[in-house]
Amino acid sequence: MKVSVLTGAGISAESGLLTFRGEGESLWAKFNPMELATPAAFKAQPEKVHEFYNLRRRLLHEVKANAAHFALVRLAEKLARKGGELNIITQNVDDLHERAGSSHVLHIHGELMQVKCVACDLVAVWTADLGVKDRCPACGEVGRLRPNVVWFGEMPYGMDEASDAVTRSDLFVAIGTSGTVYPAAGLVELAANHGVRTYELNLAPSENYCVFDEARYGLATEIVPAWVDALSD
Ligand code: OAD
Repeated sequence: MKVSVLTGAGISAESGLLTFRGEGESLWAKFNPMELATPAAFKAQPEKVHEFYNLRRRLLHEVKANAAHFALVRLAEKLARKGGELNIITQNVDDLHERAGSSHVLHIHGELMQVKCVACDLVAVWTADLGVKDRCPACGEVGRLRPNVVWFGEMPYGMDEASDAVTRSDLFVAIGTSGTVYPAAGLVELAANHGVRTYELNLAPSENYCVFDEARYGLATEIVPAWVDALSD
């Protein structure tokens, strides 16, 4: 069996990372995304944008993968034993899937632990704070490095690869995502249009819950391991 999973901020919530939306404390309730997550915001106030991502990068060093991330590692092993495969497509810029042990994770919204040089297009691992005085290790330009995350108004990475994986699947599962940000939110419709079974695992019904064939609601650390365990060997 081939399974594609789309993960969102909800899978990392119990690790201690805030989601963007939803009940209680959330990033876009506290901060204005138009001032922090657009190319225009970075041009206007690069220090402020760097500070926002520096805070999030520092926090990422302190948190750990949770039972939901680990369950997806077990799922990949379980599927592989029978000649199947798991494709993880994530909107998350954290690296908790990789830290749990998942490989080949498609980060369609980029990665917080990477920088991109707007002068020479270098993409490199960057785990420390980033600022306007930093120099690109490849071209030497100063002040041209930005977090390698996809901002509003920018094209996500790897959508062709993600779409191919989804349409080749037997099952598409969305985990911990509100289904509000496109094109990622459109993957469930793509799956449904190709006859792929669809399943939502989330704390509460997403914006596009009605497109899914089935759903289970609860904490990711409980419902994701339970779903993986229930899948027949
Ligand atoms: P959101 O913050 O929009 O949605 C998080 C979802 O996770 C909500 O539907 C919650 O109900 C659910 N949730 C919260 N805690 C949970 C838990 N413990 N277990 C299971 N589910 C839980 O996050 P995304 O859908 O990932 O983009 O957001 C999509 C994009 O919007 C992000 O990648 C980011 C943001 O703006 C960019 O920055 C470009």
